[in-house]
Amino acid sequence: MNKQRMKKLLIILGVIPLLFGILYVHVAAEDDLDRGMIVYQANCLHCHGENGDGNGPEASNFVPGPADLTSIEMASVPDSHLEKAIVEGVSEVEMHSWGGILSKEDIYAVIKFVRSFQQ
Ligand code: HEC
Repeated sequence: MNKQRMKKLLIILGVIPLLFGILYVHVAAEDDLDRGMIVYQANCLHCHGENGDGNGPEASNFVPGPADLTSIEMASVPDSHLEKAIVEGVSEVEMHSWGGILSKEDIYAVIKFVRSFQQ
């Protein structure tokens, strides 16, 4: 095999795992979003609403109402703020703690899903 061909072969051999890597990350990201949607629909939607705007079917039972997760305020807080609010709850009467109910992975996924409201 001449040098030129060898080079091409090496490039191709290098590119293939890279493509698989990108594909894997892409699929994993989609999975998180799907998981986040399922977690949200089961646990958050009845208060925060289908679109995250805080107008879920049970929203009127709360004063102040459930946070508008689509707001600029919510979009500008870091993930760690959302995580803290979800894990610890906001207060006993408003939003209870989800730390003992949802797994770490579910909380990570639901934050990702909440972020999708804000784009
Ligand atoms: C029983 C109704 C209810 C459910 C269910 C609920 N929340 Fe809330 N949530 C609230 C209320 C009410 C507030 C507003 C508290 C306030 O403004 O002081 C709130 C606030 C928040 C906040 C904002 C905290 C902040 O910094 O102001 C986030 C983020 C949040 N909820 C996420 C979620 C997620 C994610 C779920 C599902 C795992 C969820 N909530 C489920 C009622 C609910």
